Amino acid sequence: MDSTRRLRVERRSARALVANYIHELSERHNGAGHREASTEPEESKETDSRIGIIGSGNIGATAARLFVDAGREVAIANSRGPETLIEVVDGLGSLAHAADVADAAAFGDLVLVAVPFGRYRELPAPAFAGATVIDATNYYPGRDGHFPELDADQTTSSELLADHLAGARVVKAFNSLPSRTLRDGGNRGPRDDRLALFVAGDDPDAKARVGRLIEEIGFAAVDTGGLADGGRRQQPGSPLIARESSAREAEEALGRAMQPT
Ligand SMILES: NC(=O)c1ccc[n+]([C@@H]2O[C@H](COP(=O)([O-])OP(=O)(O)OC[C@H]3O[C@@H](n4cnc5c(N)ncnc54)[C@H](OP(=O)(O)O)[C@@H]3O)[C@@H](O)[C@H]2O)c1
Repeated sequence: MDSTRRLRVERRSARALVANYIHELSERHNGAGHREASTEPEESKETDSRIGIIGSGNIGATAARLFVDAGREVAIANSRGPETLIEVVDGLGSLAHAADVADAAAFGDLVLVAVPFGRYRELPAPAFAGATVIDATNYYPGRDGHFPELDADQTTSSELLADHLAGARVVKAFNSLPSRTLRDGGNRGPRDDRLALFVAGDDPDAKARVGRLIEEIGFAAVDTGGLADGGRRQQPGSPLIARESSAREAEEALGRAMQPT
């Protein structure tokens, strides 16, 4: 990274940290507590009302539409700056605004990362501290360049992202359906008949929050396990995500995939 860009990223990160700190103070003042694990029982937890979205392409823009339709406020960012997102946010309505990456990352407790995987190291890690990060990225060497540790299956792309965003709780999700299916495939029917969106992660609370969001936009969250094992089960090339499945079909396929060989 050249020194101008590094300076810019550092400035944005510092801004996001300050914004975050101020927000935290005011939340504490109001007795809420920002980005801290709750001890409330699952069923009494409210859903996350503010979501940051990094990436305004196929997945980012589609997810933004779904989240806004579900009544969430979104801050959406791309690599070129908020001024390039005027049309996108106008189309989304008053619950959406454009932001730079650090501000979008600091906006809410949930942050969706929907950028080409090869660019994850550009994300300003401090701005994501304390957030639940939804990793929608997939690794495609032809697009992303080769990562030898992924080619050798020594780790997963989500674990690399989690290492980079130390301090965030990373859940791999929204990566297993094409954006068009994500746009059109939700329904309010019984859970078993909804299309599955797989989730993997090491933090049960973070995974539950992402699961609630998935159910709210009309899909079914199907838990594949931790970031290492589940992340492998739901990455490109895995038989589990080779086709779109209902929750029932996905859970049967997952059961087969988890059988010892
Ligand atoms: N497309 C699908 O159906 C699908 C399905 C599942 C998973 N995925 C995965 O989801 C991710 C996004 O895919 P996509 O199809 O939505 O990609 P896309 O249409 O090419 O959009 C990528 C977005 O990421 C932004 N971006 C790139 N680098 C960035 C950075 N350093 N900081 C902030 N924003 C950055 C781009 O901003 P600029 O335009 O300003 O460069 C663009 O808005 C990929 O990892 C992909 O493999 C895609």
